[in-house]
Amino acid sequence: MTDGVKRRALLKTVAALPLALTFGLLASPFLRILLPTRRPLDVLGESDQPLAEPPIPTFTDKDFPKDWTCLPFMFNQKYVEYNPEGKEVRKIPGFIVKLPNGDVVAYSRICPHLGCIFNFVEDPNECAKGYNFKPNGPVFACPCHLSVYDIAQAGKVVSGPAPRPPRKFEVKKEGGAYKVVALEAGSIA
Ligand code: FES
Repeated sequence: MTDGVKRRALLKTVAALPLALTFGLLASPFLRILLPTRRPLDVLGESDQPLAEPPIPTFTDKDFPKDWTCLPFMFNQKYVEYNPEGKEVRKIPGFIVKLPNGDVVAYSRICPHLGCIFNFVEDPNECAKGYNFKPNGPVFACPCHLSVYDIAQAGKVVSGPAPRPPRKFEVKKEGGAYKVVALEAGSIA
């Protein structure tokens, strides 16, 4: 490469810098929409995804003496916020259930319809009386607008206006313990 060509390339690069800066400034408000809790220019900072905040709800086999044992728990979800603590912790009520196939599953109790807290109803006759629907087995059922979720079918909506199953928690088996470690991505409802 001759000296003339090198100089031209260098001048082109220098001339392009203000243009790149202008595009960067124009694009930054859109990037703030994608990463709203990230400080400006902190592109390599810690993830701002919501995370579990201790204490982690933990259970053992002894807590589930029979199939369909259902236990309530409270899960702390941490959100990055611009406040003096740098975070906000929201408490999300959940149910952890032992299924007849031996699996232990956990769901947020916040109803995906309009956010009421739903109940565990073990007896199908009880459900028929209180929620206008007779299921084949234990269900989650919401007192507000009578949505019913079939736990044996991964929380499928079997009655009522709910648009989808409730959000699941990730349950990790460590040794003899079941730990509720994360909430399925999305909003808390
Ligand atoms: S809020 Fe649960 S069914 Fe409407």
